[in-house]
Amino acid sequence: VMRHVQHLLAVAAIAAVATHGVTTTHLQFYMHDTVTPSAGSPATAVRVVRGPTPAPGDPINRFGDLYVIDDPLTEGPDLASRAVGRAQGFYLMASRSIDQLLLSANMAFTAGKYNGSSITLLGRDAIFDEIRELPVVGGTGGFHGAAGYGLIRTHSLNASNNNAVLVIDMYLML
Ligand SMILES: *[C@@H]1O[C@H](CO)[C@@H](O)[C@H](O)[C@H]1NC(C)=O
Ligand SMILES: *[C@@H]1O[C@H](CO)[C@@H](O)[C@H](O)[C@H]1NC(C)=O
Repeated sequence: VMRHVQHLLAVAAIAAVATHGVTTTHLQFYMHDTVTPSAGSPATAVRVVRGPTPAPGDPINRFGDLYVIDDPLTEGPDLASRAVGRAQGFYLMASRSIDQLLLSANMAFTAGKYNGSSITLLGRDAIFDEIRELPVVGGTGGFHGAAGYGLIRTHSLNASNNNAVLVIDMYLML
């Protein structure tokens, strides 16, 4: 299977064509989850429900915390790199050990050939695992009828303020 990173802005043809007319597309982009704002970076992850019980040794997170997100997606790891979309949805601290989330998000693309298309991800995000696999529930526009999965890796995390940059590789069968 050919492995080829297809940046969202590229006009290039779809990455790989498999048998039976199924095409596999690989997209890679970065997601900026800003819980704590700073100059030039507004909060894009906002806690809307607070879990009832503090977790031992963790001053920030609680089982039951719910964050709504509208995180920028960019082509590179720098927030100033080219914008390709937004990750809109929520994540819920869904484990008592507060290291596993339920992530439910629409990846709404705003650039290149996928401008106006979206992918819906829903799954378990064990945030301290090196690689997390989340199922693709479906897609719209250029991703209509898509199946597949996303691999999420933490590019950087500030444990003092929970701000994180994630790198996401999507593998979509169309
Ligand atoms: C994406 O599509 C919208 C709606 O058609 C358009 O207004 C916008 O300029 C497009 N963005 C880019 C980066 O092409
Ligand atoms: C991490 O967060 C703390 C608290 O908000 C902040 O003072 C520090 O500058 C951040 N570190 C980096 C590398 O952004």
